[in-house]
Amino acid sequence: MNGEEKIGVVGGGLMGHGIAYLFAAAGHRVGIFEPVAEIRASLPKRLQSILDLLGDDPALLANIDVDGALAPAVKDAAFVFEAAPEKLPLKQKIFAEVEQAVAPDAILASNSSAIPSTQIGLSLAHRERVVGTHFWNPPHLVPLVEVVQNEKTSADVVRRTIELLRRAGKTPVHVRRDIPGFVGNRLQHAMKREAIALVAAGVCDAETIDTVVKEGFGARTAVLGPMEQSDLVGLDLNLDIAEVLYEHLDRTAGPHPLLRDRVKAGKLGMKTGEGLRQWAPGQADAVRARLSRFLAAQAKARKKGFAVDL
Ligand SMILES: NC(=O)c1ccc[n+]([C@@H]2O[C@H](COP(=O)([O-])OP(=O)(O)OC[C@H]3O[C@@H](n4cnc5c(N)ncnc54)[C@H](O)[C@@H]3O)[C@@H](O)[C@H]2O)c1
Repeated sequence: MNGEEKIGVVGGGLMGHGIAYLFAAAGHRVGIFEPVAEIRASLPKRLQSILDLLGDDPALLANIDVDGALAPAVKDAAFVFEAAPEKLPLKQKIFAEVEQAVAPDAILASNSSAIPSTQIGLSLAHRERVVGTHFWNPPHLVPLVEVVQNEKTSADVVRRTIELLRRAGKTPVHVRRDIPGFVGNRLQHAMKREAIALVAAGVCDAETIDTVVKEGFGARTAVLGPMEQSDLVGLDLNLDIAEVLYEHLDRTAGPHPLLRDRVKAGKLGMKTGEGLRQWAPGQADAVRARLSRFLAAQAKARKKGFAVDL
């Protein structure tokens, strides 16, 4: 058994059930607080489908308890991961309640995508133990977790959180400032911003953008990050390219009009049949299944030692 410490998870939705699973798989006892009865009832089936996907030992599901009350779910927890709806007053209330229910040295982590954890922990007695842990969906399959230190988080809390995540098989990184988008979403949206501008300017269609990324630089990104790629080709070449290219990159202030117009027209993506591309009914499920198979194969290979013989 890996995990001596009990883990509390607040919210058993999309992110919460995956976070609970990954800690149970690492040998921790996990308590999930989920206030909605139907969602509580759906948890065994959703956890079972992760187990089926990854082919793990069914016994690990016995490590997880689900509760309709907060205090029993987080009782004795050394870490509590909050994955409740993205609303500041709700998260503040949850953290205040959690603080009453756990030991003074328990770490309180928020999975918020955008709300600064400084704000979430504002009224707590022990603000140094509040930290952001930004998991990526699905959290049991994507390795990265951004551990976001806010202005009050202690260095010891960051260190303990990183150690816990590493022992559970994740790849934690330390983000030293609680800024909007952290690191990953800033990078992702910088690319999306340019992609939408290229389509709007008629340079190529949306399908071509996806092909260029998946079959081009995206094909090597999992083993060659942008900084090492820059160093590999040489910063002199990077500078030459930057001198010519950067003045042409999109600088629209705020979201691009193309994005605003599509949303205004109800073209929201796969759920409405059209977004940036056209989608037939059922295609969203096929795309999700393809992603899930791909990530699960990588996760299984990682568990065995390493994915590809490099
Ligand atoms: N979905 C993503 O891709 C993603 C990725 C990274 C981070 N996040 C963040 O994770 C958090 C959860 O997102 P999600 O996608 O899992 O949402 P979700 O709606 O699937 O899950 C939220 C769960 O919290 C429950 N809940 C409602 N009120 C609650 C309360 N008072 N106490 C505890 N639980 C409560 C809901 O019933 C629901 O089951 C959000 O802060 C979101 O921004 C989401």
